[in-house]
Amino acid sequence: MEHKQLIQVIQNMTGVFLTDDKIYLLDSRLNQLMKEYNLKTYDEVALKLLQKDDSEFYHKLVDKITTHETRFFRDESIFDALAKQIIPEWLEKNQISKSNITKKLNLWSIGCSYGQEPYSIAITIKENHPYLFPHTKILATDISKDVIERAKKGIYTDFEVNRGVPDYIKNKYFTKIDNEYKLDEEIKSIVEFKIHNLIHDPYPYGFDIILCRNVLIYFDLNTKKEVVRKLIRSLNNNEGILILGSSENLINLVDNYVMREYGLARYYEFTPSVTFFKRN
Ligand SMILES: C[S@@+](CC[C@H](N)C(=O)[O-])C[C@H]1O[C@@H](n2cnc3c(N)ncnc32)[C@H](O)[C@@H]1O
Repeated sequence: MEHKQLIQVIQNMTGVFLTDDKIYLLDSRLNQLMKEYNLKTYDEVALKLLQKDDSEFYHKLVDKITTHETRFFRDESIFDALAKQIIPEWLEKNQISKSNITKKLNLWSIGCSYGQEPYSIAITIKENHPYLFPHTKILATDISKDVIERAKKGIYTDFEVNRGVPDYIKNKYFTKIDNEYKLDEEIKSIVEFKIHNLIHDPYPYGFDIILCRNVLIYFDLNTKKEVVRKLIRSLNNNEGILILGSSENLINLVDNYVMREYGLARYYEFTPSVTFFKRN
């Protein structure tokens, strides 16, 4: 079945670029949806998307086409880096102490999927910097309406919780109800979920730390460049910390961000001078 037009439409709408070796995903992921809407060809799917008159169809397709793989404390070294290096340095830079909290810590978790990433950040801050917790706000966004609706509930299966949450965190912040685990309301209270498409929606701004992990991998080089340029504008004064996935980097995307390390974790920090590798 011809798929070129649909791949282009999907890329224009979501940024997700299906390379030749991923085209088989169209069959497996869209089969059911095409039956439901009585669409016989990929061109008909593309046309329906272009008509932009059926938001339910659009959201269902986006949900099928995107990959939501995630888990609590994924690549856990980055949560150590947040607790032990990134946040302490932010506190120092802003001259914030327990008795002198003059501003809020604003984070943005992009492509947050079912919420495990922003909730892992909230738990990390509660555990390591409890006095900062009430002064922290985490915006968590994703293009997929389905994942945002589930993330807001903060209810996870046995498998999802046991996949990354240490026992003491599970006992402290989750309540088991039948076969599910409900996340503590206080942890949930600092996370705000919203649908946001990195390709078409205006970017919010004023963040100290942005996490965009395992999202750029689905985009082509030009889209990555454009998204990273906008992310940097969303950081406070174009500065701040940018955290990508463990297999992603800023090479060829931007110059004035240096890579920092903490244990196995790597992240990026603005520097006004030429790029160099800064070791701790
Ligand atoms: C593999 S998950 C990453 C989840 C989490 N950040 C992590 O690293 O565990 C990628 C997420 O990016 C979202 N996504 C894909 N394209 C997007 C876009 N254009 N705008 C916003 N989110 C997008 C998907 O819906 C998906 O939930």
